[in-house]
Amino acid sequence: MARAEKRFVCDACGAARPRWAGRCDACGAWNSIVEEVSRAAPPRGLGTAKGRRIEFLPLDGPGAVLARRECGIGEIDRVVGGGFVPGSSVLLAGDPGIGKSTLLLQAASALAVRGTRVAYVSGEEGIEQIRMRAARTGLAGAPVGLAAAIDVRDILTTLEDDAPPDMVVVDSIQTMYLDTLDSAPGTVAQVRGAAQELIRLAKRTGTVLVLVGHVTKEGQIAGPRVLEHMVDCVLYFEGERGHQFRIVRAIKNRFGPTDEIGVFEMTDRGLVEIPNPSSLFVDPERGPVPGAAVFAGVEGSRPVLVEIQALVAPGPAGSPRRTVVGWDAGRLAMVLAVLEARAGLRLSVCDVYLNVAGGLRITEPAADLAVAAALASSAAGRALDQGAVIFGEIGLAGEVRPVSQGGARLKEAAKLGFSHALAPVPDTARGEAEGPGIAVTRLTHVRDLVALFPASLETP
Ligand code: TYD
Ligand code: MG
Repeated sequence: MARAEKRFVCDACGAARPRWAGRCDACGAWNSIVEEVSRAAPPRGLGTAKGRRIEFLPLDGPGAVLARRECGIGEIDRVVGGGFVPGSSVLLAGDPGIGKSTLLLQAASALAVRGTRVAYVSGEEGIEQIRMRAARTGLAGAPVGLAAAIDVRDILTTLEDDAPPDMVVVDSIQTMYLDTLDSAPGTVAQVRGAAQELIRLAKRTGTVLVLVGHVTKEGQIAGPRVLEHMVDCVLYFEGERGHQFRIVRAIKNRFGPTDEIGVFEMTDRGLVEIPNPSSLFVDPERGPVPGAAVFAGVEGSRPVLVEIQALVAPGPAGSPRRTVVGWDAGRLAMVLAVLEARAGLRLSVCDVYLNVAGGLRITEPAADLAVAAALASSAAGRALDQGAVIFGEIGLAGEVRPVSQGGARLKEAAKLGFSHALAPVPDTARGEAEGPGIAVTRLTHVRDLVALFPASLETP
């Protein structure tokens, strides 16, 4: 028999160490190390006892096509991969106050109205609070089973004694308490233990389990990253402070793509889907402004138009400022260097501010060319053609490279009334078609782009 061993675990990142310390050497957090008694470690070697034989099966067979439960809120169904998979576990992570409880109450109600049996267990709020939210969002009539509880044993007993529901929402995993562990709710051991028990129940009964998880300021799921490994699907719910837009992003999904997003707006009656996000991120009313470029992006399977805004201003001698919101600062540095080295645009002496409008975050390299256009336009003090969208990746030699889904980008732009596109030469190997209903100027080098703004070479 192995004996129970003491070890010390960081509450912030889950790293284990043999001794207590004031600061975690894995993540640098202070005062986050707590003692954990680990259960009997596995014995050394297996000995001679034989195990049972396991069975090998063909890849094809029952279960190959998943029966999914759609809640009917299109933005949610798409992000989870086309509906919730029975027996799977989903983690919805996000900052406090971003709207996780609201989103899940809406999804739960929508499923319940469609005849799915849904339980909503809250460890954070009382029944009255949740009822108030339901009344406010017009969901009070939905047949959702509501409970305020934190004891995992009670929750499991109840769910198993009654026929288990088709979906259980647990809000939040940080409030759940497992009585077999000494530590307090919210510690790594508790979060891991509680999640393990709930996930096991979901697998056993075919219930869809949805866990809410809080995120720390650094953007990590509070306490344990371990949760991300345990669940089948990790969704991040994000939004910029001061903006009404909320985006659900799939970070991990064992049953679907991970690059999908769902876009919502927080209103006084709950979250409202935005099926055409381009209308949010581009303002068609505003007149021409230097430094603004509309990027034809793709989020998941869906084209999204986003306005990229740049402000280039002569800075004080010394170290110029670089401020980026919604894009990668390293990528901006690269685009600035390429513009300077390959197209003679002297920006290294200027302060540069870059902003992705609407609180969206872009991760695609296809945005390079739009960023370069916004920078060149601002530096020249000349606005881009208002009816134009732009996309393309930029290489270090200054070449403009083709990107995926060029056709879809052009189609979306045409659909939203854009008449002109600046784009790379399409990759014919991918069989990409010319965009219908939109004139395309093909660019091969950043020089071609900078040449569109004649005054730009005269700026400081
Ligand atoms: P909530 O779902 O409680 O956030 P979380 O569970 O992520 O902590 O939502 C909190 C915020 O949303 C709160 O500040 C108020 C706002 N809100 C609205 O603007 N409209 C609404 O209809 C609801 C229910 C909430
Ligand atoms: Mg909440």
